[in-house]
Amino acid sequence: MISRIRFLIAPLALLLALGVSPAAFGQGTPTGDATSAICIPPEGIPQKESYLIGMSQANKGEPWRQAMNDQIAAAAEAHPELEVVFADAAQNNAKQVADVENFLSQGIDLLIISPNEAAPLTDVVAEACAQNVPVIVLDRKVNGDQFTMYIGADNVEIGRQAGEYAALHCTNNNLNPCNVIEIRGLEGSTPAKERGDGFREGIASNPNVEIIASQNADWLREKAIPVSQAMLQANPDVHVVYTHNDPMTEAAIISAQNAGLNLGDILFIGIDALPTPDGGIRSVIEERIDATYVYPTGGAEAIDFALRILAQGEQPPGQVILETEEITPANAQQVFDRFSGAAGDATPAP
Ligand code: FRU
Repeated sequence: MISRIRFLIAPLALLLALGVSPAAFGQGTPTGDATSAICIPPEGIPQKESYLIGMSQANKGEPWRQAMNDQIAAAAEAHPELEVVFADAAQNNAKQVADVENFLSQGIDLLIISPNEAAPLTDVVAEACAQNVPVIVLDRKVNGDQFTMYIGADNVEIGRQAGEYAALHCTNNNLNPCNVIEIRGLEGSTPAKERGDGFREGIASNPNVEIIASQNADWLREKAIPVSQAMLQANPDVHVVYTHNDPMTEAAIISAQNAGLNLGDILFIGIDALPTPDGGIRSVIEERIDATYVYPTGGAEAIDFALRILAQGEQPPGQVILETEEITPANAQQVFDRFSGAAGDATPAP
């Protein structure tokens, strides 16, 4: 964690705290083709007393995914006409394909899916669509356009903001070169590429910033421990550690500590910012992670749109982009307080 920089970023954080960049939990902007009634029967959804929704989750092992499921369950509970069944693919693409096929044979009325990886899940999502089952793709994407709508935050933008934060830190501390280590998410999942690409755009304004090592740890804290250990041992002269999610940041902090590096000399940047006791916002408050970015799960929005599609016969927008928010020591406590009482819920009511 870095203390020198705080004073310098305070004005930016103040602007954020004042609402120049509004809180992101649960807010979204509909974009895309509002008339694309794809995967919806031409005669419309038959009106029923209750609707069965299949929620295909990539895994349940990560806190952020559990938060998404919890949100979906909580939002659906308010609508007795919606019943949600959950499947956990346990990070296995083949299992997730089978989960969706199983949902289809159960006769679900709508599919919500957060795909483990894009390519392996594309065909089964298209199959659901071909059967006129509306599909809401959440957070991670599939390829092509054979689904009803996508809901998620802009991962390129999040990566860009993280890159700009890193570049500013390097400038403010006269670091030349400014060495960055990147720990990436699962390569076949779209946020990993998008967060990596966005970060590169964000650092481009400062030619002294150099990514000296980049490795994959599949989004997993356990995997990020040995990966970051090896990276930090090979590259002890590091100024910034950028990881694609907070659990991997926490792993890198442990590895840096174990390697005997001075944590005060390294800027640690993560993504997710769960407002939970062991989430990213608390980590910023406790001065481990230096900056993280809210990545809303979209669970509540998914249920909202499911209801509109099924019970209200609405044609949804092609995509809804959820807002993010930069969390730094200057606003972390304030943001945490704003969402206190909502522990375990990644997108509490604003
Ligand atoms: C959870 C997770 C989050 C990350 C998201 C990207 O599985 O790894 O930490 O932000 O997936 O899809």
